[in-house]
Amino acid sequence: MNIELELNGEVKKFDQAKTDSLLDLLRTHGYTGAKRGCDTGACGFCTVIVDGEPRNSCVLPAAKADGATVETIEGLGSQSDLHPIQEAFVDNTALQCGFCIPGMIMRSKALLSENPDPSEAEVREGLSENLCRCTGYKKIVESVLDAADRMNGDKAVTDGGTESESNGRSQNGFDCCGGDCR
Ligand code: FES
Ligand code: FES
Repeated sequence: MNIELELNGEVKKFDQAKTDSLLDLLRTHGYTGAKRGCDTGACGFCTVIVDGEPRNSCVLPAAKADGATVETIEGLGSQSDLHPIQEAFVDNTALQCGFCIPGMIMRSKALLSENPDPSEAEVREGLSENLCRCTGYKKIVESVLDAADRMNGDKAVTDGGTESESNGRSQNGFDCCGGDCR
């Protein structure tokens, strides 16, 4: 069936099987930032923003997204021009394997759009549907609070780990937050 999306600001058409999820659609067309973890709506690794709301794309039928506006991490920033949320995650070393991070960042973007100055409790609540098997969440929460400061102009934005690159990797040793890993 034909599905049309406004995907990261561009109108795109896809010919997709009726049974496919939005995550299937995205990943088969190269948008591999959204990760497939549980595939049952329980981990948040596949979070993208649909019509302004964070959604687990693994349990959203692609057909139901027809006509929607979809934002994925590929539209957020690039390695040389990170979004402030991505910069905050890098600068606060909020990741280990990085598998949960694209979903965390998209959930954080939706949260900060709704509530630009959240408390720590509000960040924890806002991210409660997104699991991380590595970090213990503390640095992730700190990163979102830091990102809020950056986006509110309360804090100078640093280089996001790119200035000291010598081998194409950022300061923490990972090419994370851009969703480039598969
Ligand atoms: S892969 Fe979608 S919620 Fe886990
Ligand atoms: S950094 Fe590994 S799952 Fe979150």
